[in-house]
Amino acid sequence: MTDFYFIPCGKKVKTVKGKNLLDIALENDVVIDHNCGGVCACVSCRVVVLSGKSALNRITKGEIENLKETGLYNSRTRLACRVKYLKKIKKDIVILIPSDGKN
Ligand code: FES
Repeated sequence: MTDFYFIPCGKKVKTVKGKNLLDIALENDVVIDHNCGGVCACVSCRVVVLSGKSALNRITKGEIENLKETGLYNSRTRLACRVKYLKKIKKDIVILIPSDGKN
């Protein structure tokens, strides 16, 4: 079964398909900033998907544009409020929550 593993807090959680990553984190007491309330209007919920990208939805143009505007875009960067868990995979989905805003 797929688990989400959050770094640096080290919390491992199980969840159901269809949920977004921000909700998964908040429901399990994993702190991810979300200044706009999860409507893709900021980049405070930025995370780095270190492993398990194939279990998630594809990045949207809106996410890419928002991340590029702030110079924070790379192939592993996502906005937690836009990430959906779509399918189980055999390995953990590893999510880095940047603390300095520059990972
Ligand atoms: S919470 Fe603002 S973009 Fe995700």
